[in-house]
Amino acid sequence: MAKKVILTADRPTGKLHIGHYLGSLKNRVALQNSGEYQTYVMIADVQALTDNARNPEKIRNSLIQVALDYLAVGLDPAKSTILVQSQIPALNELTMYYLDLVSVARLERNPTVKTEIKQKAFGQSIPAGFLVYPVSQTADITAFKADTVPVGDDQEPMMEQARELVRTFNTTYQTDVLVEPQGYFPPKGQGRLPGLDGNAKMSKSLDNAIYLADTADELRQKVMSMYTDPNHIHVSDPGQIEGNMVFTYLDVFDPDKTKVAELKAEYQHGGLGDVKIKRYLNEVLETVLGPIRQRREQYAQDIPAVYDMLKQGSAQANEVAERTLQEVREAIGLNYFK
Ligand code: TRP
Repeated sequence: MAKKVILTADRPTGKLHIGHYLGSLKNRVALQNSGEYQTYVMIADVQALTDNARNPEKIRNSLIQVALDYLAVGLDPAKSTILVQSQIPALNELTMYYLDLVSVARLERNPTVKTEIKQKAFGQSIPAGFLVYPVSQTADITAFKADTVPVGDDQEPMMEQARELVRTFNTTYQTDVLVEPQGYFPPKGQGRLPGLDGNAKMSKSLDNAIYLADTADELRQKVMSMYTDPNHIHVSDPGQIEGNMVFTYLDVFDPDKTKVAELKAEYQHGGLGDVKIKRYLNEVLETVLGPIRQRREQYAQDIPAVYDMLKQGSAQANEVAERTLQEVREAIGLNYFK
């Protein structure tokens, strides 16, 4: 039986942080290594341009950072096809055909896009490309005939729209060329990692992130600055666990659950200082991030080799996408000269 096909992607708008690692990268590496899937990992630079068209330098610089992050966490070009969206022309052509099968009203109804438009304060100048990015994303997914798309909860409307478009295409052109994808969502309750400051979201704009590229010193400083319990003033005071980022992170990253339970009890009782638990958390995080950092530094020593890896992955992906495009043209009837 043919293997299931997975597509995952990231917009290159900055370095990846441990929230990305926990919520997505770690799982991708596991899926890749299971050997049960054919996996495509895409750097979505075209999508990143939809709201950064006047700042292409940012995308260009972030592309290589994201590629290094991928390699550092263990995405392996021998097992996964790592590709760059802009290097696959078929994606643009597919997008164009799909755009004719979706109404402007439907595009404007996508709740995630709606929220993003508000957040980004485009005003009257919403880039048309931004409004239609769910369609371009459908092209990404269908070009590789991905049936499984691991994404965060905020991408649920994208998956719905993709499935809708696939069905519309297949019915309209009486074909089964396009494969209907399934979203693969993180287990409920395993939400996103909050920021250092306790904000629900870890992000660059909030300046509350730990990056995979951070040095050991940067990591230590960030851990030392984490939001704990503002009322825990003296070591002997009883401290709060809820909303205390140090314990939130320990719950997530420390495999020694007995130890975490003991520390929590001691902290709640009083007598355990913030500096002490932060030092301990730093050790725990260093165990996870140290090896990732080392691999990242190694790959960073040969940037041309990283570009070459992307070039090869893109070439492989291009063949697959081209094949789908030919099938799509055929289905629509654009094969005049055959
Ligand atoms: N929109 C996704 C994000 O911001 C990135 C993305 C682009 C994507 N194309 C995709 C995700 C195709 C899944 C499938 O993270």
